[in-house]
Amino acid sequence: MHQFHYRGDRLYCEAVRLESLAKRFGTPLYVYSHRTLVNHFQKLGRAMAPVDHLICYAVKSNSNQSVLRTLANLGSGFDIVSEGELHRVIQAGGDPRKCVFAGAGKTAAEIEFALRQKVYCLNAESEPELERINRIAARRKTIAPVAVRVNPNVAVDTHAKITTGTYEDKFGIAFDLIEGVYARAAKLKHLRLRGVQMHIGSQITKTGPFENAVRKMLPLVRRLTERHGLEFFSIGGGLGILYQFALVSGPAQWWRSAAARGIITPAAYAARLLPLLKPLGLRILLEPGRFISGNSGVLITRVEYVKRTGRKNFVIVDAAMNDLIRPAFYDAYHEIVPLTRRRSRMMKADVVGGVCESGDFFCKDRLLPHVAEGDYLALMSAGAYGFVMASNYNSRALTAEVLVRDRQAALVRERQPLKEIWAGERIAPWLQ
Ligand code: LLP
Repeated sequence: MHQFHYRGDRLYCEAVRLESLAKRFGTPLYVYSHRTLVNHFQKLGRAMAPVDHLICYAVKSNSNQSVLRTLANLGSGFDIVSEGELHRVIQAGGDPRKCVFAGAGKTAAEIEFALRQKVYCLNAESEPELERINRIAARRKTIAPVAVRVNPNVAVDTHAKITTGTYEDKFGIAFDLIEGVYARAAKLKHLRLRGVQMHIGSQITKTGPFENAVRKMLPLVRRLTERHGLEFFSIGGGLGILYQFALVSGPAQWWRSAAARGIITPAAYAARLLPLLKPLGLRILLEPGRFISGNSGVLITRVEYVKRTGRKNFVIVDAAMNDLIRPAFYDAYHEIVPLTRRRSRMMKADVVGGVCESGDFFCKDRLLPHVAEGDYLALMSAGAYGFVMASNYNSRALTAEVLVRDRQAALVRERQPLKEIWAGERIAPWLQ
């Protein structure tokens, strides 16, 4: 479900006309819907209500502090992967004691900081990491809560760059080795084995892979719980979203259309997983990122030129791969719609940015309504892995971000001033 819809011929986010935001704040511009964030969080929470659970929103998917504050206010925990993300959560008013710290490469300084902030758990991905956490906890005269990320080795039908749960991936520790790892970790005096974690990949649109992975994990989780008194089982994130849709008018219709397309819904996810998870009696952690933030955001861009080569049409816009890298990096599909609909003929075109890379495109040979210079377009479903993956490539400034709530719109990140891009640079002394 999301809150981007046409009223008449104008595209709105909640009760705010998007073109008014484009004019007021300039483009490219990320716009997020407060109500969509809340709705997605609550929908998943309600579906999982029959078990003791904690949703740890994956900060990496969209880490704007207003987004984090919105979720913190709903009681969300957070899945973090760096010291920087933990700082953000704290600054945004999130509770570090509801944070799980993931990632294969935690530095000693990051572990120190996480322990000082008393995070709920550090999810370790290797034995050397467990040993390092133990050494640091010993030095600080404390006990570190840890879980181990299990690589369940299940195949998942998603883009190769976002599968994580097979032995080809660098993530976690292989399923068959886990019991030995827990047995050795139990001997490390400054660790408390608090839980066990898995994550099989991202943008998974069917319930099957989750069910298969949980089924495979169950006997292992039971044995580990018996031996080590675990408190939680984290089933990771990865719930996929609908990227290809016709804009629908209301929430009820949205969920029906999602279900009709066979894409995962919280209800279907819970229906398949709860019967497996409930008998464990453990606290269940979830780490959704995209499911909460993905359809909560759009990237608005302005058409600079329409270039017709005779063979192809190119719509050249002021956003580029540095603002939204997903099409270039994962061949990802983002719906592209005009902020003002006109009755016009359709045209086939590539929508591209101005960066000097042929990979800098948002779509290829897509049938679009006729557009002209100065028109605004929205790249839909850009709330997750959009702004957070933006860069200064080609010395282009990071875009501004706006959060909408009903009739209100707030600038939640200023457009980066150009000078800030090179502010940290110095001319080497021998060049002066
Ligand atoms: N938990 C762990 C351990 C993860 O590695 C991830 C994502 C998540 C949770 C959240 O996954 P989500 O619910 O958002 O699927 N940049 C890529 C996605 C990378 C996902 C990385 N890990 C994209 O734009 O598709």
